[in-house]
Amino acid sequence: MTRIPLIAGNWKMNLTVEESVRLAKTMMPRLEAIKGVETVICPSFVSLKAVQDVLKDSSIKLGAQNMFYEEAGAFTGEISPNMLAGICDYVILGHSERRRIFGETVEIIDLKIKAAIKNLLKPIFCIGETLEENETGRTEEVLTHQLMASCDRVYFFGGLVIAYEPVWAIGTGKSATPEKAEKTISFIRHLIHHRHGGEIADAVRILYGGSVTPDNITGFIAQPNIDGALVGGASLKADDFVDITLEAAADKGISN
Ligand code: PGA
Repeated sequence: MTRIPLIAGNWKMNLTVEESVRLAKTMMPRLEAIKGVETVICPSFVSLKAVQDVLKDSSIKLGAQNMFYEEAGAFTGEISPNMLAGICDYVILGHSERRRIFGETVEIIDLKIKAAIKNLLKPIFCIGETLEENETGRTEEVLTHQLMASCDRVYFFGGLVIAYEPVWAIGTGKSATPEKAEKTISFIRHLIHHRHGGEIADAVRILYGGSVTPDNITGFIAQPNIDGALVGGASLKADDFVDITLEAAADKGISN
């Protein structure tokens, strides 16, 4: 089973609309020239339409960073899945910043994933353990809980992508080692195999995220179970994001 590598840039709460357009315009032709890797850019909500205009004739996909699960109503400040449908291809859900700062539970995240799939948005579903959970040997237990709460068969047919992001590696400059990330990601694939069988487990793309840079992407992407990366800080620099994507293509044996 060949899984197309995916590199997604999570711009988080950074860049004005003008800055987002400028960055997208700088990256676009260089990303577009890279064959064999799917790339996704996830700007803030207010920049989505403007960045969509920049990307419209390219193969680069657009993603949102979050959404609410209801279609419409009295939910001040929220964005619904049907507002994103038709603009975005992907939506990041369950990011550890959403879980930690905004109190999103596994139940809320599951409702969001369900609503995204219903609206033909592909979730980039983030899971990961905290430093304390890691140090007390609870990584597998935590990941099992987070993953199994959103492991409906239809999600996989709807194009769900999983991003394994150890919380202690996000924005810290301290990434997991490629070997540890591979071990954990193969455990995640094993869980999916156990629940839904080999076909779904072999097809689902699982990314690594947490302090990915052009210098360390090679180690991750060379692992058999790691299908790409969710990139935060380094996705705000055009050269770094393009280099990460180029490395991903090269390491998966695609010549550009
Ligand atoms: P980082 O963020 O690459 O800055 O560590 C990754 C993420 O939060 O998705």
